[in-house]
Amino acid sequence: MGTLRKKASLAVFFLLFVALCHGVTSPNKKTTYIVHVAKYQMPESFEHHGEWYASSLKSVSEKAEMLYTYENAIHGYSTRLTEEEARLLEAQDGVLAVLPETKYELHTTRTPLFLGLDKSSDLFPTSDSSSDVIIGVLDTGVWPESKSFDDTGLGPVPSTWKGTCETGTNFTASNCNRKLIGARFFAKGYEAMLGPIDVTKESKSPRDDDGHGTHTSSTAAGSVVTGAGLFGYAQGTARGMATRARIAAYKVCWIGGCFSSDILAAIDRAIHDNVNVLSMSLGGGSSDYYRDSVAIGSFAAMEKGILVSCSAGNAGPSPSSLSNVAPWITTVGAGTLDRDFPAYVSLGNGLNFSGVSLYRGNALPDSPLPFVYAGNASNATNGNLCMMGTLLPEKVAGKIVLCERGVSARVQKGAVVKAAGGLGMVLANTAANGEELVADAHLLPATAIGEKAGDAVKKYLFTDARPTVKIDFEGTKVGIQPSPVVAAFSSRGPNSLTQQILKPDLIAPGVNILAGWSRAMGPTGLAVDNRRVDFNIISGTSMSCPHVSGLAALIKSAHPEWSPAAIRSALMTTAYTAYKNGQKLQDSATGKPSTPFDHGAGHVDPVAALKPGLVYDLTPEDYLGFLCALNYTEGEIQSVARRSFQCDAGKTYSVTDLNYPSFGVVFESSTAVVKHTRFLTNVGPDASFKASVTSDSPSVKVSVVPQVLSFKEGEKKTYTVTFTSSGEAPQGGNAFGRLEWTDGKTVVGSPISITWL
Ligand SMILES: *[C@@H]1O[C@H](CO)[C@@H](O)[C@H](O)[C@H]1NC(C)=O
Ligand SMILES: *[C@@H]1O[C@H](CO)[C@@H](O)[C@H](O)[C@H]1NC(C)=O
Ligand SMILES: *[C@@H]1O[C@H](CO)[C@@H](O)[C@H](O)[C@H]1NC(C)=O
Ligand SMILES: *[C@@H]1O[C@H](CO)[C@@H](O)[C@H](O)[C@H]1NC(C)=O
Ligand SMILES: *[C@@H]1O[C@H](CO)[C@@H](O)[C@H](O)[C@H]1NC(C)=O
Repeated sequence: MGTLRKKASLAVFFLLFVALCHGVTSPNKKTTYIVHVAKYQMPESFEHHGEWYASSLKSVSEKAEMLYTYENAIHGYSTRLTEEEARLLEAQDGVLAVLPETKYELHTTRTPLFLGLDKSSDLFPTSDSSSDVIIGVLDTGVWPESKSFDDTGLGPVPSTWKGTCETGTNFTASNCNRKLIGARFFAKGYEAMLGPIDVTKESKSPRDDDGHGTHTSSTAAGSVVTGAGLFGYAQGTARGMATRARIAAYKVCWIGGCFSSDILAAIDRAIHDNVNVLSMSLGGGSSDYYRDSVAIGSFAAMEKGILVSCSAGNAGPSPSSLSNVAPWITTVGAGTLDRDFPAYVSLGNGLNFSGVSLYRGNALPDSPLPFVYAGNASNATNGNLCMMGTLLPEKVAGKIVLCERGVSARVQKGAVVKAAGGLGMVLANTAANGEELVADAHLLPATAIGEKAGDAVKKYLFTDARPTVKIDFEGTKVGIQPSPVVAAFSSRGPNSLTQQILKPDLIAPGVNILAGWSRAMGPTGLAVDNRRVDFNIISGTSMSCPHVSGLAALIKSAHPEWSPAAIRSALMTTAYTAYKNGQKLQDSATGKPSTPFDHGAGHVDPVAALKPGLVYDLTPEDYLGFLCALNYTEGEIQSVARRSFQCDAGKTYSVTDLNYPSFGVVFESSTAVVKHTRFLTNVGPDASFKASVTSDSPSVKVSVVPQVLSFKEGEKKTYTVTFTSSGEAPQGGNAFGRLEWTDGKTVVGSPISITWL
């Protein structure tokens, strides 16, 4: 899952097992394929493309049936075939590609205030225009009874809406209203791979039995709910980013994962239904754009004017760990809020460390308790990780246990300590997570501490004959500084598919986010957790993505004519990269300033994004030119474009000329010159903007021509940036910088990353 809960890991292993079985079974074994067809090449002998698809499929397999036919997201269908049948089908005229099914995974009271939305709510259209915007959320479905979906005060469903409220297990048409205007579910691909859905375990309907989809959709556009909180933590008013926008839920993720044929079908319907924004907090590796169903479906959505916002992934802080990097997708990383849930660890030797926790329940005794390192209380080789069945009850009973983070779910470790008779847990980070602290609603008194504190605690445990510890839970604190910091888990650049496209695009709040939850699942997502809550606090780029989806909806309502690229540009060029005191944003993985590979253009600033001054706009044709620059074959481009498209042999295409609001500069050698051309569109009044560039490396010279651009209202102007490498690459092979255009009032900023190959 895209949250930091690792509860899906069991299911993931199960699926790997299934996949392996597919690999070793007989050649007659069928699997699901997505068939991309050049619909415009339909032979004249057919009246309808459906007949043509059916006849073509029948010629390779008598019995194969279509799971879905796709009309909008791609042209084609999905079906079950043997490998041999798939090969034969791919060789047919008019068939562009036959791609195997892929599995994807799902990668707020305080956030509106933190983002400055409250103090300037008058800037945003509050009445009719913002309630015309529809956000489609592809996720685990929705818990319609959540107060976040209360429709009090909302007018009729927008006339543009073409969707529906599908019925199924424990879900009827009356579960939709003027806030949750639509709900659908897509399970054919899932069932074809894993067998019929067990309705005793999950609802075969849009109902969310997991919580993730309720959390993401209420973050994007939940109504205002007073008195929200989790066990008294983060108590206050919960509201989505676009409180008056409408929500359409598309359930594509099930206990065993989210399958590409279902995701494509959902995008297909969402386009048909007329959503304005698509929010997808899921991802699956980084296959090439023309093989990635999320990228392909998003292209079609973008062509229809739908802004697609996706999570960047939780695979940080390793470099090149991003998913969803297609340039027509808005890729969102995660930062922290200024809110924390401190729970202090004080040792018998007087040392005192700060941790975080959302534990609420029986308190520990006031006196210090005996303390033990899990690695010293286990016979297993990785006893320090507190994995299921590895702690020795005689060593932990009546004690607090120090467990280390990794492999198993954080809350699960506490359940293991509890089962072995332990009274509490201190959960220490290792190098993989550094100082990043994620608060959890633990099942026993427990707190999480950073790597440095963990090392000091271990030193004490290894040297003191009778170690003791006390944990003090202090509730909710706001005003934590510095904030935001980039979350260690947030996936990092560079973009491994196209280094010239700098990703992530920006960061938004994704740590300890409060939003609506499903009452079918406890707050920790563990089967042993039978607590039920209306709101939950969780973390992940899954949480930052719907923040941007909701903010994009607000901008869309203020500027209905803006393209998805213009809206993204506004969000990016106004994002901030420094705190109010001038210091650069920090990375919680290193405790040092973060770079554009970590935060992209910076942290979203929705109020500034309403008036960006200038935007970098892009059309669908521009993106096709980008695919030409990547030397994609005609068939590859046509799978994405869904129409006949040929790159112009007489034209020179360059990835450096895609009109992106950021710069990914790649030098092939230490003495090289790279040019990037851009054009700006003035969306403000007549103005004259001047360029300025900063860079952190003396080895690169940057020049902008022209230096000054004077615009009439609505005018477009072109400029070229020349990057010259004049010396040795700096250590690490990367440098960073920033280009700003300003008229003295508005700053239009672009991040620059420079890579020497
Ligand atoms: C069905 O939904 C209701 C909420 O309306 C919930 O209380 C109930 O537990 C659900 N039943 C199942 C089997 O999920
Ligand atoms: C540990 O430090 C925190 C913050 O400085 C303080 O609030 C808390 O009382 C301290 N705990 C002990 C036991 O000294
Ligand atoms: C506890 O574990 C540490 C690290 O594995 C080890 O160095 C130490 O000797 C152990 N202590 C005892 C008493 O076993
Ligand atoms: C763990 O190891 C100790 C010492 O070798 C042994 O006495 C004990 O039986 C083991 N316990 C388990 C549960 O394997
Ligand atoms: C595409 O092909 C051209 C001509 O062979 C080559 O110069 C260019 O580097 C290629 N581009 C990419 C992105 O591979």
